[in-house]
Amino acid sequence: MCGILGYIGNEKAAPVLIRGLKKLEYRGYDSSGIAVLGSNKLIVEKEVGKVEDIERKIDFSKLDGNIGISHCRWATHGRVIKENAHPHFDCKSEIAVVHNGIIENYQGIKERLIVKGHTFKSETDTEVIPHLIEEYYNGSFVDAVRLALREIEGSYAIGVISSKEPNKIIAARNESPLILGIGNNCMFFASDVPAILEYTKKIVYLDDKEIAVLSSDDFIVCGLDGMQRKKRVSIIDWSPEDAEKSGFMHFMLKEIYEQPRAITETVRDRLIDGNVIFEGEFGLSSDELTRVNRIIIVGCGTSWHAGLIGEFMFEELAKIPTEVEYASEFRYRHPLADINTLFIAISQSGETADTIAALKEAKKNKVKTLAICNVMGSTVARLADGVIYTRSGPEIGVASTKAFTSQLAVLYLLTIMLCREKKSLNDKQIADMIDGIRRIPLEIQTVLDEDKEILNCAELYYNKTNSIYLGRGVNFPIALEGALKLKEVSYIHAEGYPAAEMKHGPIALIDKNMPVVVIAPKDVYTYDKILGNIEEVNARGGIVIVIATEDDKEIAKRVNHVIYIPKTLYTLSSILAVVPLQMLAYHIAVKRGLNPDKPRNLAKAVTVE
Ligand code: M6R
Repeated sequence: MCGILGYIGNEKAAPVLIRGLKKLEYRGYDSSGIAVLGSNKLIVEKEVGKVEDIERKIDFSKLDGNIGISHCRWATHGRVIKENAHPHFDCKSEIAVVHNGIIENYQGIKERLIVKGHTFKSETDTEVIPHLIEEYYNGSFVDAVRLALREIEGSYAIGVISSKEPNKIIAARNESPLILGIGNNCMFFASDVPAILEYTKKIVYLDDKEIAVLSSDDFIVCGLDGMQRKKRVSIIDWSPEDAEKSGFMHFMLKEIYEQPRAITETVRDRLIDGNVIFEGEFGLSSDELTRVNRIIIVGCGTSWHAGLIGEFMFEELAKIPTEVEYASEFRYRHPLADINTLFIAISQSGETADTIAALKEAKKNKVKTLAICNVMGSTVARLADGVIYTRSGPEIGVASTKAFTSQLAVLYLLTIMLCREKKSLNDKQIADMIDGIRRIPLEIQTVLDEDKEILNCAELYYNKTNSIYLGRGVNFPIALEGALKLKEVSYIHAEGYPAAEMKHGPIALIDKNMPVVVIAPKDVYTYDKILGNIEEVNARGGIVIVIATEDDKEIAKRVNHVIYIPKTLYTLSSILAVVPLQMLAYHIAVKRGLNPDKPRNLAKAVTVE
């Protein structure tokens, strides 16, 4: 996720862009950049760091044009270095582009353009766009952009300016957010409303595969076929603070709702012709993968829960013995491991002190190390031999939500890759796994759309003081995660257990005041057993809330509340089951008058021991 913003009008563009870009930094803050058209020439400033870093370094007197585009980056393709910061240019520095999204077919386009003599300066997927536009330019800027976009596959929201036609901005989108703002004698494009709210409340929402041409007092929109389209102007009535959260009350809720998008971005260009391919930074050769005979996973909190699900999948499907350790414990052990052991550190932030220390400890053993991280260039990502990024975009809410499900998606992809290397599953089984993960974003959307029973449970039980979460197999870690979410944001005491363990102690706690959340998707492994566990709670008068599979009407007769999730593969049920638990925790916290974005005593990244 990145933020883009463009301005054309009577004021100097640079200060307007810098001010607006600061409001988009929740979308990315590893590098920032700006390009302004002044005296028919493109002037650019970009830097690694936050918007205020380039603001400090900019000589605003040089940037005196009234047309400009800008970008704040959350790296996906290419390291966090100045060369990879946007805007990107064509060979003659006459066309500047800012981009949010992922160009899936950029490698092929880049190779073709290099053969034609184009020179690339960055490692990004984005840079093919200005070069393609340059290639197609034949007297009409908008036609060149249109023809370039017809060749591009993937997601994009782009803004383009050119000294060849210095009186306009072109903006376009496909599967990445982009709005137009209509001001007084000025026009904007932006990834999100807060960037322009200071100037206008009149918004036009672009649809997929639409191109807008902006001048200071007008705009036209057409499709990739060049046919003009009529657009409706909407009036936004959000406050600037609401707008930063795209109208959601809290970042946590916004991030819960971003999960379909986060998983799509994490998965899609890594599934190629029935195989999983991780780009350059993966760091492990096929031979090294084949030799892996043991996996050790470390993480903290929610990332540790993701690790438990990884353990389940690696052992069940890829048949590789796997252990999961709290990073804080691992760092003080002297583990026995050899060159055939793969060590995986999972961390959203990549800056958790215990995870960094555990990774350093592992490296002493000469094992191959792999990081699963959300923040490009973070310490964990840099220390490990290889890294697979989750592409969830910045996670602002302290309670991890979209980063967790993206971690599960990466672990699932890695499982597919290991299954191929180890030949532990046949082609049909792997094709089914791929089909399953491709459907997950839409299935999460279904869970998000059907929130009535979740809201009902929050309303009924928000003032309880304790609760128990039960799950089995791949969903035992989801019980832990559901309980952690509730504890973190609502301060209600909650414990997660493997359902059968309840009999060994926790059952003593159950009475008519105890909500028991049971994750019970209909699978062939443990479903019957978990029905037995539900009866044990019923017999003691507990309140049972189950997460069940959509066609399971039978279970509804045995429990107080059912929250349905779509039918999917057993290993993927964990990604779906956690979503209602995140929502339940969120709504309970709000009912209790708490701010779930900033739970007491907690920090987003625990950078001290
Ligand atoms: O950034 P990390 O994934 O390394 O963070 C690990 C934990 O601190 C984190 O998951 C924490 O448990 C969250 N607040 C959970 O919502």
